[in-house]
Amino acid sequence: MFSRRQRVALLSVCAAVAVAGAGALTATAAVAAATRYEAENAPATCDGVVESNHAGYSGSGFCNGNNAVGAAAQFTVSAAAAGTATVRIRYANGATANRPADVVVNGAVVQAATAFSPTGEWTTWATKTLTVSLNAGSNTIRLAATTSNGLGNLDYLEVTTGDTTTPPGRPAECTGNSPIRCHFAVSPGNYTVTAWIGDRASAGNTAMSVEARRRILPAVTTAAGTISKYVFTINVRQPEGQPTGQGGTGTPGLDITFAGSAPKLSGLTVEPASNPLVVYLAGDSTVCDQPSAPYTGWGQILPTHVSAGAVIANYGDSGESSGSFLSNSALFPAMRPLIKQNDLVLIQFGHNDKSTSASTFRNNLASLINHVRERGGVPVLVTPPVRRLFNGNQLTSTALHVNGVSVNLPAEMRRLGSSLNVPVIDLTAKSEALVESLGPANSAQLFLRQSVDGVTDNTHFSEYGAGKMADLVVQGIRERNLALVSYLR
Ligand code: GCU
Ligand code: CA
Repeated sequence: MFSRRQRVALLSVCAAVAVAGAGALTATAAVAAATRYEAENAPATCDGVVESNHAGYSGSGFCNGNNAVGAAAQFTVSAAAAGTATVRIRYANGATANRPADVVVNGAVVQAATAFSPTGEWTTWATKTLTVSLNAGSNTIRLAATTSNGLGNLDYLEVTTGDTTTPPGRPAECTGNSPIRCHFAVSPGNYTVTAWIGDRASAGNTAMSVEARRRILPAVTTAAGTISKYVFTINVRQPEGQPTGQGGTGTPGLDITFAGSAPKLSGLTVEPASNPLVVYLAGDSTVCDQPSAPYTGWGQILPTHVSAGAVIANYGDSGESSGSFLSNSALFPAMRPLIKQNDLVLIQFGHNDKSTSASTFRNNLASLINHVRERGGVPVLVTPPVRRLFNGNQLTSTALHVNGVSVNLPAEMRRLGSSLNVPVIDLTAKSEALVESLGPANSAQLFLRQSVDGVTDNTHFSEYGAGKMADLVVQGIRERNLALVSYLR
């Protein structure tokens, strides 16, 4: 393992790599997606003829309904969940009189004789917006003329389920297009960030990260006309990466980056978060928000698994041991007064307890545990992820954190966990299984490789490896049924 000074020197020569979507992670639920249904495409039906003789329509034409009472156009639309939907109906009415229609949803008239006012020309298209209730799954929406003039010409129907608020537009705090960078001058704390990702006019591929390369949303693809609203809770600290400022202190305030192959943003708001569940991370360089690529801590990928209402506050810091984390004023003393009732504190040490005795290690961890409990918080012990040091096909005892004075640090953590009734996530065992199953060669991708990363390091993770470790931590959070489970995406 490199000394802190060596690591900083190495980091400074590594090229900064733009954020990319971590493909292994699952995307979140999009809550507001608009889907367009063209009147000329089956299963839509048209009591009349599909024509294309008046310009400005979308798709390949429009429905020119018969001029008769009851002549209808019907659409079949789907909704992911039952609830309110916004329906936008595009039509042209080049005649001089209103062409009213009954709106019939799943056979029931929900809005009788709805006005479709003249648009002036048959080539002038307008949009009528309605709110209707839909069932989960398939629904029919029928527009039936109530006068002998029939319907106006119908182009399409667009259905937005879930959240129906109009995106507020890109704020002045954002600049650039690829990536889009946004800066909000806010104080340290927790913020609710709402991002409307996608664009009315063009397709997009957008990933979101904040602060010091902290991953929030892996790249999502949006079709033209589809805007998805995402809500996250984000922790802002100063310095923004490692609490002691190693590798750079960043910019005060909240920095948000939208990258991906075609970033599209239709709105972004930042408000103070009220009372989120905070998950504090107490750890070392394998956990921390690493400011410079290729180094990546698992704590900086963990937020991709967490939905709004819960937030990861990563106090991981390079080179820290159970003792230094306890005493350094930027670390536990800074975190401790912020811990509130039910907040989780994940405690992972071992990498830098190379010569710590068993009793000192236990005492340091017990102090952390007791102080967290005094605040009403819930401590959780996380045994350290393995180093990639093989003897044949098996990891060595050094890899498994038996330290320089023969203390088996993970075993001490497990024992302490059972004696103090603290949940333990056995990341040593989980990562041992993963690294050994990949074997000496294939496990290299989890760590840093000269050929790819410009540095060989069998302790620190690549972005890929940090993502795998975050997956194992999430698995442990589920197994221990910690409060974060109800916020996992
Ligand atoms: C015209 C127009 C048609 C329209 C019809 C109507 O014929 O070209 O597109 O449907 O009027 O009044 O319904
Ligand atoms: Ca007509």
